[in-house]
Amino acid sequence: MADYKITLLKGDGIGPEIVNQAVKVLNKVSEKFDFTVEYDEALLGGCAIDATGVPLPQETIDKCKASDSVLLGAVGGPKWDSMSGDKRPEAGLLGIRGALGLFANLRPSVIFGPLKSASPIKDEIIGNKLDIMIVRELTGGIYFGERGRKEVHGQPAAWDTEMYTVSEVERIARVAFDLAMKRNKKITSVDKANVLESSRLWRETVIRVSKEYPEVELNHMYVDNCAMQLVRNPRQFDVIVTSNIFGDILSDEASMIAGSIGMLASASLSGGKLGLYEPIHGSAPDIAGQNIANPLATILSVAMMLRYSLGRSDAADAIEAAVAKVLETHRTPDIYEESMIKVGCDEMGDLVCSML
Ligand code: IPM
Ligand code: MG
Repeated sequence: MADYKITLLKGDGIGPEIVNQAVKVLNKVSEKFDFTVEYDEALLGGCAIDATGVPLPQETIDKCKASDSVLLGAVGGPKWDSMSGDKRPEAGLLGIRGALGLFANLRPSVIFGPLKSASPIKDEIIGNKLDIMIVRELTGGIYFGERGRKEVHGQPAAWDTEMYTVSEVERIARVAFDLAMKRNKKITSVDKANVLESSRLWRETVIRVSKEYPEVELNHMYVDNCAMQLVRNPRQFDVIVTSNIFGDILSDEASMIAGSIGMLASASLSGGKLGLYEPIHGSAPDIAGQNIANPLATILSVAMMLRYSLGRSDAADAIEAAVAKVLETHRTPDIYEESMIKVGCDEMGDLVCSML
């Protein structure tokens, strides 16, 4: 029996090609660090709709639950855009997050040295280093609240609900504070407490949890200000903790500060060992199958998996170092700069392997 069992959810668009590269890297690193991995595949998103009629078949949930960890490519595409809300590929993604209880989404925004010039933000603003960890609540809030359609003043209307319970806020706050203790002991909690009642509860609760962590410096920021501060002075941030929808938006913004959305990994954790790891970018159907997608975010997601679910930080460090080394000379088109060698998705995977 292998040491670890990983379920692969390749998904749609560029999903299969980027996951294939990440598997190549995981196989190489497992040889080097002397452990074995066994893979199983399951369907999620548009490919699941085509094969079974639903975006998240029960079999996929069962396979994920029976594994040590899950690696996801990306889901969605124009082919399924006209389907109704609960039948869209994205509903499969939200469904698997809910079914596996993945309430904590870690989205690090890190600049790899050689990529500094790919960031649209000026050098002097970024400084030598950018390392922000966004901790996004992932199974609550408006994404999972009640919603519906009704008639208001004789015209069609639609509504969604943002709601958080104290325990939902407490558990995500603890994940963020625990991480802060291992980093620079600094947290920014992002909300809209000047307007939203759910944000006021969020803030009160985070303040209460902070008493358990006297060493961590906590400050609060409204989400609109945070969006502005991320561009004005990103170095003021270390750990950001926020709700599902604010985290969705701010993490895309933070990814661009780091140069390219094609570089950023994420971990979705349940509190136990099982986690789901995925790049934060989408399925990019326009470039699917052309061997030009950037597989690095998925490869870096494997590094996060090794660190957070499999207890193999040594192997995680090795992958991150290999990626940094390759970036000194080789680039996929999305992060290409003059004087670099342009490579495709497959070649990028091989290059990372060769540096391991
Ligand atoms: C993300 C994505 C998803 C989200 C979509 C595809 C449902 O944008 O993972 O950030 O909004 O959570
Ligand atoms: Mg998003």
